[in-house]
Amino acid sequence: MDRIEITRAARFAGEVTPPPDKSISHRAVMFSSLARGKGVVRNFLRAQDTESTMHAFRALGIEIDDQGHTLIIQGKGLHGLTEPADIIDCGNSGTTIRLLSGVLSANPFFSVVTGDSSLRSRPMARIIKPLSLMGARIAGRDQNRYAPFAISGGSLKAISYDMPMASAQVKSAILLAGLYAGGSTLITEPSKSRDHTERMLPAFGADLKTDGLSVSIHSGKELYAQEIDVPGDFSSAAFFMVAALLIPGAEVMLKNVGINPTRTGLIDVLRNMGAHIVIDNVRSVSGEPVADIFCKGQTGLKAATVTAEMVPSLIDEFPILCIAAARAEGTTIIRGAEELRLKESDRIKAMATELSKMGVALEEFPDGLSITGTETLRPAEVDSHGDHRIAMSMAVAGLIAEGTTAISNASAVAISFPDFFTSIRRLTA
Ligand code: S3P
Repeated sequence: MDRIEITRAARFAGEVTPPPDKSISHRAVMFSSLARGKGVVRNFLRAQDTESTMHAFRALGIEIDDQGHTLIIQGKGLHGLTEPADIIDCGNSGTTIRLLSGVLSANPFFSVVTGDSSLRSRPMARIIKPLSLMGARIAGRDQNRYAPFAISGGSLKAISYDMPMASAQVKSAILLAGLYAGGSTLITEPSKSRDHTERMLPAFGADLKTDGLSVSIHSGKELYAQEIDVPGDFSSAAFFMVAALLIPGAEVMLKNVGINPTRTGLIDVLRNMGAHIVIDNVRSVSGEPVADIFCKGQTGLKAATVTAEMVPSLIDEFPILCIAAARAEGTTIIRGAEELRLKESDRIKAMATELSKMGVALEEFPDGLSITGTETLRPAEVDSHGDHRIAMSMAVAGLIAEGTTAISNASAVAISFPDFFTSIRRLTA
């Protein structure tokens, strides 16, 4: 299924329950492994990235009873992990390698972590530096900049750390190390990244406090097993939201979607563009806000401007926002988004390259893109760049383009949303 053809949609209607949240699924497995007792994770995301986290914790001696969408995890407490017998392969998953490194830094054994070619080209100095300041001994490729890297863990000291970039992965890696470090670890971000760790860790018993852009964690508290229900992933729902808005006559109800405000910047931008998005049945599930979201096809979306402060809350939605911009009236400008060059692919370059093939006028900046909307997208042979979110965004572009668009390396969707094309086919049939 590596080359997929998508034809212009004459219909796009129905109900979709997006796959479980990827960020929350990773954290549920990690925190349950570090807690004492039998943890339950319901509605766990079955996808390549989250399975990398499962494999990693099994390699560290944690028993996970895999019941499909439910995992039963026999947590061994903060000090129960054992030295892995082999290199831990984190696949394509930045969340796995970075958060795991925070844990490994504090554990008194030797470990080596690596990943696929994409992950091995993503920056790791952003975690290696603060974890080394805490006392971890880490040696990585190219002067501690890239995986693979080896960690000799041990006792850590608390630090106060000003993060140079907003990143939930870096913040969470330091917080996890902070669970073990003597004293109180304080982290400050330049702007707020997703806060799933801050919501979930205290539920397990951690002594963690948030104050604006700062988070502190005090060591010395054991974690205790919990039952976690993972909500649907807003970042996966986003592809259906934008597709529904752009396809004439579309009507889509998205059920059980996480709407944590650190994740839903796309809704604010789409509403500024004139989109009518209905959020209904808001409730709280395992400490996270959840809702049903209704979108329907509409004409006359207007261009938007996205600035640096808005970027963290829509960091993973940039590719699909580019598709909305490609159909909006006027020129959408997205700046302050240089972090996007460091994701599973260089997402600024990938979207500029692929949308250009479809006849969209755009300009690439070091930190973003400007995109001038057009009435008609040209069908083309496009490529996912091995990146799940580029594959899904270009599929949505294919649904609104003339004729038939072909996407190569489309199997990348399995990183976060293995059934993506099945869901698309169901709504267009
Ligand atoms: C994630 C954080 C974000 C996001 C990634 C998942 C997480 O990365 O892009 O898809 O689960 O913490 P950064 O924290 O590096 O920006």
